[in-house]
Amino acid sequence: MAIPFLFLLFSLLSLSSSEAKVIPRFPSKLSASASVNTNHRPFKTKYFTQILDHFNFNPQSYQTFQQKYLINDSFWGGATKNSPIFVYTGNEGDIDWFAQNTGFMFEIAPRFKALLVFLEHRFYGKSIPFGGDKKIAYSNASTLGYLSSTQALADYATLIIDLKKNLSTIDSPVVVFGGSYGGTWFRLKYPHVAIGALASSAPILNFENIVSPYTFNAIVTKDFRSESENCYKVIKGSWQKIEEKASQHGGLKQLRKSFRICKNYISGNALHGWLYTAYIYAAMTDYPTPSNFLSPLPAHPVKQMCKAIDDPTTGNDTFAKLYGAANIYYNYSGSATCFDLDDDSDPHGLGEWSWQACTEMIMPTSGNNNESIFPASEWNYTNRANFCKYVFDAQPRPNWITTHFVGHNIQRALKRFGSNIIFFNGLRDPWSGGGVLKNVSKTIIAIVAEEGAHHVDLRFSTSEDPKWLQDVRKTEANIIANWISQYYHDLAHL
Ligand SMILES: *[C@@H]1O[C@H](CO)[C@@H](O)[C@H](O)[C@H]1NC(C)=O
Ligand SMILES: *[C@@H]1O[C@H](CO)[C@@H](O)[C@H](O)[C@H]1NC(C)=O
Ligand SMILES: *[C@@H]1O[C@H](CO)[C@@H](O)[C@H](O)[C@H]1NC(C)=O
Ligand SMILES: *[C@@H]1O[C@H](CO)[C@@H](O)[C@H](O)[C@H]1NC(C)=O
Ligand SMILES: *[C@@H]1O[C@H](CO)[C@@H](O)[C@H](O)[C@H]1NC(C)=O
Ligand SMILES: *[C@@H]1O[C@H](CO)[C@@H](O)[C@H](O)[C@H]1NC(C)=O
Ligand SMILES: *[C@@H]1O[C@H](CO)[C@@H](O)[C@H](O)[C@H]1NC(C)=O
Ligand SMILES: *[C@@H]1O[C@H](CO)[C@@H](O)[C@H](O)[C@H]1NC(C)=O
Repeated sequence: MAIPFLFLLFSLLSLSSSEAKVIPRFPSKLSASASVNTNHRPFKTKYFTQILDHFNFNPQSYQTFQQKYLINDSFWGGATKNSPIFVYTGNEGDIDWFAQNTGFMFEIAPRFKALLVFLEHRFYGKSIPFGGDKKIAYSNASTLGYLSSTQALADYATLIIDLKKNLSTIDSPVVVFGGSYGGTWFRLKYPHVAIGALASSAPILNFENIVSPYTFNAIVTKDFRSESENCYKVIKGSWQKIEEKASQHGGLKQLRKSFRICKNYISGNALHGWLYTAYIYAAMTDYPTPSNFLSPLPAHPVKQMCKAIDDPTTGNDTFAKLYGAANIYYNYSGSATCFDLDDDSDPHGLGEWSWQACTEMIMPTSGNNNESIFPASEWNYTNRANFCKYVFDAQPRPNWITTHFVGHNIQRALKRFGSNIIFFNGLRDPWSGGGVLKNVSKTIIAIVAEEGAHHVDLRFSTSEDPKWLQDVRKTEANIIANWISQYYHDLAHL
């Protein structure tokens, strides 16, 4: 649930409510310069003929589409040994991109002799229903209606079962890995298909009123504030300064110059959204080593942005300070000649998150209390609903996720139901506010890393990884090893 959102939403900002700019995506908005592939992981690309609607028997539901998946069998011990299968249950984006950012599975595969499989989420990447034509699939609610978490999980179950049949390896244990919502919910709904789930940074409590709508931005605030009080104050005070400047005669022109914006015309709103995105994504991807998940970033990007803001050479010039911070986020590679505020390129195929955010994924994350680094604002469901009506003619169902899956009183609900789930959360990740941060039972375990960010545990390891991160990965692999050995024990006796 990692993820902003410029695509469709920002471009509609001026037409509709300010709701658009405050819906963070699970994984992210990517800068156009993103995706230099530094850690290439090879696999074979395959397609599976998937059914359009798993929950309905009318003729339309029998239509099919091609679901993409990736497979790497180099480490697999094979069917005769019932060697394990590690499955990444894709989230909202191109599966190749997630596979490249999930080095952890490759790194532990040799120890387990595991087959690696990465499944793409329907309506993203190349897994597009309605003949693979995005124009048709994304046209309106009658086609987008087939985009839901429930359908996606059913796709995964169907594909995994078929793959095991094809490989004559029915009894191989399957472990699912999810960066975002896939993992937990799959394990809870399909316990006979997956023996366990590593749910990395899954904000499954960010629904209804389970956690406060101020939580998400309070964590972003804490991240910046813990670097320096001045950094926090400068950013907090900047929104009004931008607004004032934007309303002055010639003010927009000056802002354009200060921030080196490409276009001749900008609006205060667009600048606001652009800066907001940089702070949120830097917080989400505040990794201890250089990364290139959403965009190329230095290690500890929040610290680096605050360093730019605290830089004494910019004196009291707030805009020069903010430019310095934005330049870290948007131009770490040094290749930007100017900045494009409403860059709506979508290099990782994340476009349709807005539909999900308008139907079942109603996550009240956009509130800002008076301490927030962003201007104070209330989460307002009516604004979201109006926005969704306007864009998709869709009516959100804010209670569906907690009805169908789980959410309220998670400790009580899962203490005696369910097993073999690891909830990893890094507390610098704003999504951790909606994460499961306490152990639920002996087999539903919370791993909490104070210094961690959004699914940092799943990333490929580097020689500079801090000890806490190495320890988290070791713990996770050992827990998975336990699940597998218990499974083999059961397989021999049950
Ligand atoms: C699987 O990944 C490993 C490690 O990156 C690589 O060496 C191997 O060639 C890959 N195998 C396939 C079939 O792509
Ligand atoms: C929705 O889109 C489909 C596919 O493009 C089209 O056939 C249908 O007429 C559209 N429905 C409405 C209500 O616009
Ligand atoms: C299993 O094999 C059938 C027949 O070759 C094929 O159509 C199907 O796509 C395969 N399933 C998977 C998951 O690859
Ligand atoms: C910066 O501070 C100086 C001295 O306090 C003041 O004269 C000047 O107007 C300030 N500049 C800005 C841009 O606020
Ligand atoms: C991006 O960084 C490079 C290298 O530091 C710099 O020359 C360039 O001016 C920066 N671009 C913008 C738009 O500031
Ligand atoms: C924020 O709100 C609290 C409680 O309503 C109040 O006590 C405090 O003074 C406010 N702080 C600021 C900076 O406005
Ligand atoms: C939400 O926003 C609407 C305007 O879009 C306003 O009429 C309504 O009072 C707001 N609701 C709350 C609870 O603030
Ligand atoms: C959960 O329990 C495990 C031991 O089984 C422990 O290592 C871990 O720290 C506990 N997690 C939390 C958040 O207390």
